[in-house]
Amino acid sequence: MLVIGNWKMNKTVAEARVFIKELLRERFDKKCSVGIVPSFVALHIAGELLEGTPIGFGAQNCYFEDQGAFTGEVSPLMLKDLGCKWCLVGHSERRHIFGETDELVRRKAVALLRHEIRPIVCVGETLEQRNSGKAISILSAQLSRALESLDLGNEEFVLAYEPVWAIGTGMVAKPPQIEEAHNFIIEHCKRMHPKANFRVLYGGSVTPENCKEIAVNGVGGFLVGGASLSVEKFSSIIRFCI
Ligand code: PGA
Repeated sequence: MLVIGNWKMNKTVAEARVFIKELLRERFDKKCSVGIVPSFVALHIAGELLEGTPIGFGAQNCYFEDQGAFTGEVSPLMLKDLGCKWCLVGHSERRHIFGETDELVRRKAVALLRHEIRPIVCVGETLEQRNSGKAISILSAQLSRALESLDLGNEEFVLAYEPVWAIGTGMVAKPPQIEEAHNFIIEHCKRMHPKANFRVLYGGSVTPENCKEIAVNGVGGFLVGGASLSVEKFSSIIRFCI
């Protein structure tokens, strides 16, 4: 299992330092891979404190160019320099608040792969799309466009299924819905890239209380938002995954 904590726009550098030091006091078995994705400003301190530990870190977003006149953006080259292992791409908040398209997601994934940073491509349907029976076709369209012509080799490629209606709402998808979506994502990606291996994380209101129930067939770990802001909650989700 892989458990990634997405802090979103939370925690100052001082708060990040306290959190990471506390998390490092917890002892986790190496069988579970763990990472945090803090805001850009906390990446440097994360790199310093997590160096040589089993806990990895990454970013929540990036641009696809290496450098240039792109005010406000951060490049994969810069993330690599800081030691980032992962980078989220196409999180639903990026898509819905900042208008990110599947094409942008694809270009970011290409740029990250070029710098050997592992993209975590997020996909998911809105409640309206689910209620009108379009969940699977939306996933299909997002994946087809975002993963088109990526050079994946036989490396493990990580995706996250995050139903938009389950993010930060306390509404969790039902185990059969999760299983159907995860199995569809894996099959679809395999059809597109037969040699690659795919891991699909579930994200959307994951808590220590519900993680057992939603760890169904096809779930390769969790992308945890709100619950990853507390060392206690995040650690108990990690412990369940070991
Ligand atoms: P949540 O967020 O756990 O707070 O629902 C998950 C995410 O957006 O990655």
